[in-house]
Amino acid sequence: MGIWRGLRVAFILGSLFMILLIIVYWDDIGGFNLYPLQDPKHRTLQSDSCPRTTTGSLLSPSSSRVQSSSSLTVPTTASSTKPMPEKTRGAAEEQKQEEEGKDKQEQGKEETQEDGRERSQTSADDREQEARKQRIMDVCSGRDDVEFPGRTRAFEQIPNRELDHLIVDDTHQIIYCYVPKVACTNWKRVMVVLSQSLISPSSGKPYTDPEAVPPDLVHNSTLHLTFAKFWRHYGSLSRHLMALKLQHYTKFLFVRDPFVRLISAFRNKFGRPNEDFYRQFGSVMLRRYGNVSGSLPETAAEAFAAGIKPTFQQFITYLLDPETEKESMFNEHWRQVYRLCHPCQIKYDFIGRLETLEPDADRLLKLLEVDHLLRFPSGARNRTATSWERDWFAQIPITMRRELYKLYEPDFELFGYPKPDSVLHQ
Ligand SMILES: *[C@@H]1O[C@H](CO)[C@@H](O)[C@H](O)[C@H]1NC(C)=O
Ligand SMILES: *[C@@H]1O[C@H](CO)[C@@H](O)[C@H](O)[C@H]1NC(C)=O
Ligand SMILES: *[C@@H]1O[C@H](CO)[C@@H](O)[C@H](O)[C@H]1NC(C)=O
Repeated sequence: MGIWRGLRVAFILGSLFMILLIIVYWDDIGGFNLYPLQDPKHRTLQSDSCPRTTTGSLLSPSSSRVQSSSSLTVPTTASSTKPMPEKTRGAAEEQKQEEEGKDKQEQGKEETQEDGRERSQTSADDREQEARKQRIMDVCSGRDDVEFPGRTRAFEQIPNRELDHLIVDDTHQIIYCYVPKVACTNWKRVMVVLSQSLISPSSGKPYTDPEAVPPDLVHNSTLHLTFAKFWRHYGSLSRHLMALKLQHYTKFLFVRDPFVRLISAFRNKFGRPNEDFYRQFGSVMLRRYGNVSGSLPETAAEAFAAGIKPTFQQFITYLLDPETEKESMFNEHWRQVYRLCHPCQIKYDFIGRLETLEPDADRLLKLLEVDHLLRFPSGARNRTATSWERDWFAQIPITMRRELYKLYEPDFELFGYPKPDSVLHQ
């Protein structure tokens, strides 16, 4: 009798232990069934063997155990594989596409001229996208000798707070990394329509036309589901879900000439009265570099009325001052794109450029398969032009211009903007 009872207790305890094991590892097993191990991106995502960063310390012990157990299961080659397979695969794809392009062009002869032109335009666009992606991979692999913080880290090492620019739409499986001063208002309006996150007061239903979404509302962060919010929504599962979504969703961003983006940010935030930016940044620039005697006006409106506003040179001085980033990270309007969107950790499917916004938007909406749902808002706005660069930098000493280039060089290189020789030599 005593033996039987002992056996029964042992059996029950054993079962409970098994159930516990299944619960703890379930999410892990699920993940591994979904990702084949040979996928290079998967290895990038799972290759984190370094100590947790600040985000890691927020994770519960069970989640970090799950994560470290998965990195144990990954083959030891994980940390060294990242760029090469992607590079070779990318090159092979490019070649294949080029051949397909040729095929298409040959077929085009037999079809109407119009058709042929459209087809060769499509394959030219595909090649352009492949070239943009290839360029990012090359720079990230370190072959171009451009070094920048975070280049070689794994996705898991990026703290949650640095993932706040990745907007997720689960319905259409889209991830958009927004870059302020690069058509971000209009793309946010598109995301608001796609995710149906804003109700139109006139119809009582979600907006269906991006153009109708009030531009000042879309910057309210409560409207968008970002990766940075995953921790709050999904707890210890969040990193796993991010990896899944990065694997399966279509990811895009829009970029712009880095210097022109800076001019645009300056015009927009300091060229006209803006109370928030005056209080947080403008007054700091004036006090530190402005040689102002006495106290500064309280408000931006008063300062502007008195003709007191930061100059472009003070703005650049502020960016170059090592003290600036010691206090806090660059504001998103002038933070480098590589720090907002992590192009070395996230393999974007589409890289748009503001310089070719309209055709790029058309192509992207087709790629996202939402071109039948909405149109990209047309904006006849006064866009900062590249040709203004010379004038704006004319007042800036050449040494400062070169330092500034160093600061934004990763963005120039990653996104294929030529070194602005006219600005750097004179
Ligand atoms: C953002 O939206 C939320 C909810 O719609 C609202 O409560 C909040 O006041 C808004 N914030 C700003 C800064 O407009
Ligand atoms: C600072 O301003 C004072 C007058 O307000 C002027 O005399 C002085 O030359 C200025 N210094 C610099 C470095 O511009
Ligand atoms: C655009 O802005 C520039 C500089 O602020 C100004 O000189 C130009 O007249 C503006 N153009 C239009 C069409 O508003």
